[in-house]
Amino acid sequence: MKILLTGASGMVGRNIQDHPSASEHDWLTPSSAALNLLDYRTVKQYFETHRPDAVIHAAGRVGGIQANMREPVRFLVDNLDMGRNVLIAAAETGVTRLINFGSTCMYPKDQQGALAEDDVLTGMLEPTNEGYALAKITVARLADYLGRENPQLQYKTVIPCNLYGPYDKFDPRWSHMIPAVIHKLHQAKQQGLDSVEIWGTGQARREFLYAGDLADAVMRALANFESLPSLMNIGLGHDYTVNQYYEIAAKVVGYQGGFHHDLSKPTGMQRKLSDTRRAAEWGWQPGHSLEQGLANTYQYYLNQL
Ligand SMILES: NC(=O)c1ccc[n+]([C@@H]2O[C@H](COP(=O)([O-])OP(=O)(O)OC[C@H]3O[C@@H](n4cnc5c(N)ncnc54)[C@H](OP(=O)(O)O)[C@@H]3O)[C@@H](O)[C@H]2O)c1
Repeated sequence: MKILLTGASGMVGRNIQDHPSASEHDWLTPSSAALNLLDYRTVKQYFETHRPDAVIHAAGRVGGIQANMREPVRFLVDNLDMGRNVLIAAAETGVTRLINFGSTCMYPKDQQGALAEDDVLTGMLEPTNEGYALAKITVARLADYLGRENPQLQYKTVIPCNLYGPYDKFDPRWSHMIPAVIHKLHQAKQQGLDSVEIWGTGQARREFLYAGDLADAVMRALANFESLPSLMNIGLGHDYTVNQYYEIAAKVVGYQGGFHHDLSKPTGMQRKLSDTRRAAEWGWQPGHSLEQGLANTYQYYLNQL
């Protein structure tokens, strides 16, 4: 297939291109400079010129809590506009297969138990990234509506949990938990420190999926498009405490010191876990253990150094 991959330079896009099965397809991978997804006329023209067989929409304005709180307008409008432009241009030019990326922030904030696909739009959203979440929900619903109006259009949304892996951002100013832990432990090893600080008690539980496993699910989706549910979580289905992430990462990095907790620092949300039963019924499960995923990510980090 000739596949348009938006967001090809991002963490998700790069892991998709690195997947062993990627070579079975021809990829269109324009940067935002070559194809600004915020401009509908440019997007439509691109689809008319290149006529992809399928689209993987992995572009987005993605950021942490601080950025989301500072710029809710940009997070809402940019993600909404990109999604709308890509989906409508695809539909108007007859592209029948499209995979859209959601996010677990689409789920209600006070959800009890694991987050299941049918829970979307059943409660209030987390206020710190509400704009981003509203855009993600709207684009996912748009994908669904387009398919309802024209059953030939198979426009599906996958909802990955938090990701880590190669191409993650390791700069402490922007990094998420796993790259921050790897960077901290690597530095502690280099400096011969005998203790590394963990914020809070470290008892909060987190679910992180190896980005190569998400790429694997996307490849499976391309080969089994009809059976892919229209909305499906792609997660690990189980979680680890923050302390466990530190312990396993320490083994991978080779840091042999101990840990201490700063209880004055915030721990964040206690738990957020995705329900992966739909993905399991579809026949997919993650292939990398946490140790393998961390080892690959650490190798990437060392190569970058
Ligand atoms: N990373 C995670 O933990 C995670 C978890 C759940 C869901 N997701 C979802 O997965 C998708 C990809 O995330 P990611 O982590 O790969 O993001 P990322 O690393 O921040 O990459 C964002 C991508 O979007 C592109 N982009 C931004 N604005 C654009 C524009 N105006 N026109 C064209 N392209 C534009 C960027 O292209 P340039 O570099 O060329 O500007 C870049 O390739 C997003 O929808 C995100 O919500 C990610």
